[in-house]
Amino acid sequence: MNKWRCNVCGYIHEGEAAPAECPVCGVGPEEFTVFTEKAEQKQPGKRWKCTVCDYVHTGDTPPDSCPLCGVSAELFVLLLDESISLTREAVAEAGIDTANSAMDKISYGLYIVTSIKDNSINGQCCNTVFQLTSKPLRISICLNKRNLTHQYVMDSGVFAVSMLGTEQTEAVRRFGYQSGRNVDKFAGIEYLSGQNGCPILTNCLAYVEAKVLQTLDVGTHTLFIADVTAGRMVANEEALTYSLYRSKKG
Ligand SMILES: Cc1cc2nc3c(=O)[nH]c(=O)nc-3n(C[C@H](O)[C@H](O)[C@H](O)COP(=O)(O)O)c2cc1C
Repeated sequence: MNKWRCNVCGYIHEGEAAPAECPVCGVGPEEFTVFTEKAEQKQPGKRWKCTVCDYVHTGDTPPDSCPLCGVSAELFVLLLDESISLTREAVAEAGIDTANSAMDKISYGLYIVTSIKDNSINGQCCNTVFQLTSKPLRISICLNKRNLTHQYVMDSGVFAVSMLGTEQTEAVRRFGYQSGRNVDKFAGIEYLSGQNGCPILTNCLAYVEAKVLQTLDVGTHTLFIADVTAGRMVANEEALTYSLYRSKKG
């Protein structure tokens, strides 16, 4: 019996062969690699980032197409991971390619942003949640226009943010690698409806509800600026960060 890990979302499958389709993110068997204790350490190789959806592929060349958003290899950039000495020349020669690697060092938390439209609910994983001001309590989220959650927030003007704990990597997979257009992400998940109707994960560290004040079109994404209308601390434990998630995903 082998263990197989999905290179896209980190799902582990046990069996003689890779599954025909990842049950979490839907990619085919070509995206699975045998998972051993050794492979658990970071895989060597070049890292290529999709400039459309931020998916990171490890290998000598970029993939023919992005397994998450489907764009072709030209839209992948090579991440330059090696350390350098910061000289005047290095600063003068820097450009967008080198900046892509630098962006990897910006820290983020991971959250589930949810919304409602008519009587339908949906949610997505989101790292771009920021507190903007304390008085009034104001936050922003940045959502890709292709996402169903984007459509719901745009139409209803309300959303909720559930904060995740360090063990909640499964929620990242469920909400971050599949669209509510194809699957009911809340099936089998415990949640409560907030005052604004948006779902809140029962198993969260904390949550806030918010009402959109302003939107800014930033190209592929919309930046939503919103007033916090309610919220609660649920479990005062350590929150999940993007870098912790990456290290757990491998
Ligand atoms: C770790 C992680 C962080 C993500 N952060 C964002 C984000 O900040 N903004 C965004 O639009 N999508 C982000 N995504 C991608 C969405 O969660 C993903 O596209 C989701 O499938 C959209 O679902 P929906 O179509 O049901 O709304 C992230 C995904 C992952 C795995």
